[in-house]
Amino acid sequence: MNIKTGSRTSLRAAQFGESTIREMTRQAMLHDAINLAQGFPDFPAPEELKQAAREAITADINQYAITWGARDLREAIAEKFAEWQGVKVNPETEITVCCGATEAMAAALLATVNPGDELIVFEPFYENYGADAILSGATPRYVPLHPPATNDGDWYFDPAELRAAFHKHTRAIILNTPSNPTGKVFTRAELEQIRDLCVEFDALAITDEIYEHIVYDGARHVSPAAIEGMAERTVTINGMSKTYSVTGWRVGWTIAPPDITLAIRKVHDFLTVGAAAPLQAAGAVALHLPQSYYDNLAALYQARRDEMLQVLREAGFVAWTPRGAYYIMTDASAFGFPNDVAFAQHLVEKIGVAAVPGSSFYKDDLGSQQLRFAFCKRPETLRAAEERLRRLSPR
Ligand SMILES: Cc1ncc(COP(=O)(O)O)c(C=O)c1O
Repeated sequence: MNIKTGSRTSLRAAQFGESTIREMTRQAMLHDAINLAQGFPDFPAPEELKQAAREAITADINQYAITWGARDLREAIAEKFAEWQGVKVNPETEITVCCGATEAMAAALLATVNPGDELIVFEPFYENYGADAILSGATPRYVPLHPPATNDGDWYFDPAELRAAFHKHTRAIILNTPSNPTGKVFTRAELEQIRDLCVEFDALAITDEIYEHIVYDGARHVSPAAIEGMAERTVTINGMSKTYSVTGWRVGWTIAPPDITLAIRKVHDFLTVGAAAPLQAAGAVALHLPQSYYDNLAALYQARRDEMLQVLREAGFVAWTPRGAYYIMTDASAFGFPNDVAFAQHLVEKIGVAAVPGSSFYKDDLGSQQLRFAFCKRPETLRAAEERLRRLSPR
């Protein structure tokens, strides 16, 4: 690896670039383009939550919460994990509230991984995991998720390729289900295969489940911790950003066995002390929204997914149907651009739509003809994007 470092910056910081996703958001603003790059909703957050946050501030919940999280939020997280996934955890010893799933993942890795350890990551992967691996001194080992042969198939891994990635230096596997960018929802059978390998190689699973409620076509989200034999070796990561459309609140959490939680809490405390206290109070209200809230969320996104799939296919993309999360991965070979970055630049500057170049989800140029589109937007935003995408022509 060719690492360039300035005289005043660290080798660590030199090993990864800026986030391509966040860069595309800046480009969208610069060119007044429709931002289908970054995964944040452009519609209002639920009124009950905004009210709960206002009330918490008025009630003077304005000082530090307990560093590992306000008790009522931790209790709500434990109650819902038991209800939704059948996993019972102790909110006093197994839950840590962090500043978003982003901090939760970084804290979990810093708390469990030693320099030189290996981390298994399915590829394509959410770009933060690459940087997190470097920050924790780990060496990532990538295992391909293969695209489906047909538009409506599921991304899959080859069990032999996965097994070959595990060995004695493996500390953990990072899972993301439902997955960004592919929309893959890991099945119970797949998770059992992963469990068998984790047990055989005494590895942890660190699982990002931030899209747990955003699943389609009757798919069911299974938490890896709910698989027999996994709770004691799993760090579950989740948060409010996507489920409650409050990506700017920065409230997430980890659920892990007590010894791991102790280590995560120490790292978290010295990284950030704690997440915003009034927003944690609103989080406890959020988790108690009725089941209809979650059903409506998934139905609303399924309709937007279907609309966006049609738009992208009509424009000339191969668009793989996601089973969860709110992104569509596409193959853009038909447009004849030399690579994904050149095409994304053309899209944002000339067509007025921002998407994410696929290569940012791969360690090398495997994704160089892929683009990711987010559809967590108002119908009118998607319609405006449709108008603009009509100007594209496959070559
Ligand atoms: C897979 C995944 N994990 C985590 C995050 C960020 O979560 P948070 O806003 O809670 O930090 C995102 C945001 O796009 C994501 O796609």
